Amino acid sequence: MTYTSSTVRVPDVAAVPRHIAIIMDGNGRWATQRRLPRVAGHTRGVDAVRSVVEACVERGVEYLTLFAFSSENWRRPTDEVSFLMRLFVTALEREVARLHANGIRLRVVGDLSMFNERIQDLIRRAETKTARNTRLTLTIAANYGGRWDIMQATRKLVEAAAAAGEPVPVTEDTIGQYLAMSYAPEPDLFIRTGGEQRVSNFLLWQLAYAEFYFTDTFWPDFNADALNRAIGSYTERERRFGRTSAQLENQSQNADSLSC
Ligand code: IPE
Ligand code: IPE
Ligand code: MG
Repeated sequence: MTYTSSTVRVPDVAAVPRHIAIIMDGNGRWATQRRLPRVAGHTRGVDAVRSVVEACVERGVEYLTLFAFSSENWRRPTDEVSFLMRLFVTALEREVARLHANGIRLRVVGDLSMFNERIQDLIRRAETKTARNTRLTLTIAANYGGRWDIMQATRKLVEAAAAAGEPVPVTEDTIGQYLAMSYAPEPDLFIRTGGEQRVSNFLLWQLAYAEFYFTDTFWPDFNADALNRAIGSYTERERRFGRTSAQLENQSQNADSLSC
């Protein structure tokens, strides 16, 4: 299990974020600004996904998690929801071979039982095909909600206790091992495009110590340069995890003297 809680143990911090999580927002407004139907923005959004995945591979990011459809997005007009489902099918059909050729492992997290059989089958196939790839783990959050995630993890923990016939300790680690993304470290950098500054029920548990970066750029316009700006901002942050700046300085001085 890769997941370790940042509140239990201070994680190692690298210059480039190991894990970037993005709320890809602003597709509708991108299209409206151009007098196009909202869904045209979703189509262009897929192109942006392609370029950001490539940029992450180039920058050596290990995990990229993209919020594609929230558990609340079912509230949208039926036409838009149907369009998004079709787009998901097309993207799975067209992009998986390329991802695989580039050594990318694909995972999809969320309550997948709400999707039709075809989508569920495409997801299973894509995950199996790419399971052994190690260059980048691309996770698509679909019908995902942070509260759903904590709830389903808790449910599994309770079920494990029932199966074991004895109580299971409720700790950050035991909850963490049942979270949908237990295979990944917590996100280092959280990006939201499209100007809104909210979490919208994304990775509530896992964002505890992520660095937040908001940009007005609409998702279809987000590209490698925009990603590099976000990473640049991240690089300037001091990630203290509850400690003081002086403690961090001492730590790095000690590390320097050890390496001399
Ligand atoms: C994000 O763009 C994509 C999804 C939620 C599927 P939006 O569709 O939310 O775009 P805006 O926020 O309305 O511009
Ligand atoms: C969040 O975007 C979900 C995704 C990007 C998939 P929304 O545009 O749906 O978020 P809210 O509802 O405006 O906060
Ligand atoms: Mg939106």
